[in-house]
Amino acid sequence: MKFYTVESYEKLCQDASAIIAEQIKSKPNTVLGLATGSTPIGTYKKLAEMNKAGELDFSKVVTINLDEYAGIDASNDQSYRYFMNKNLFDNINIDKNNTFVPNGKAEDLNKECEAYDERIKAYGGIDLQLLGIGHDGHIGFNEPDSVFETKTHVVKLTDMTIKANARFFENEDEVPKSALTMGMFGIFNAKKILMIVNGKEKKEILEKAFFGPITPEVPASILQLHGDVTVIYTEDK
Ligand code: GLP
Repeated sequence: MKFYTVESYEKLCQDASAIIAEQIKSKPNTVLGLATGSTPIGTYKKLAEMNKAGELDFSKVVTINLDEYAGIDASNDQSYRYFMNKNLFDNINIDKNNTFVPNGKAEDLNKECEAYDERIKAYGGIDLQLLGIGHDGHIGFNEPDSVFETKTHVVKLTDMTIKANARFFENEDEVPKSALTMGMFGIFNAKKILMIVNGKEKKEILEKAFFGPITPEVPASILQLHGDVTVIYTEDK
């Protein structure tokens, strides 16, 4: 594992976007696992700038997002599909048909989850998975649990996650109580993992995840067993 600290959020975004760009340059049809949350926004901005400057081509890239709120339509501005379009896909030359986010409005959510795992398999797995970390150690929306869930599944969000994500909604009551998330199969089988984390308040959970015991109570801790993980951290917000 490569774990390092940088002096600023700007530097974190620079480093993360450089790693992603290198991956795409070395394999133009890269399968990129993508994340939402506030942390990756700056990285997505830099990738879009590189694309605009003609330095990075997304025309063959496939993206598979980690998660989506249940019960929310793609056109809802709180959906993760909307977030991805706005922060990345609308700003780069990617074919939207090659961008995947779980459908939170699917009639049968369990079927949607099964199909999501099938799709990951069909693409040969994820080449590079970008991750953030939740305050309770979640990755994607894999919340603390007694087991590591392997498959894409529907999950009940913890109170801590609902509170943390309320900042994106009008009020806490509007935050969906459940979500669809890629399980450990998709995440852990990614060939490379890149985790980006910022803010002092994430320091404690980050230490637990990477230097504490491996336990499903801290879902990110499973990444200690992965052979190619880079974690970039900055205190800067
Ligand atoms: C959400 C997402 C996670 C993300 C987390 C951290 O819960 N499901 O994938 O890592 O937020 O978000 P932030 O970067 O805003 O702290």
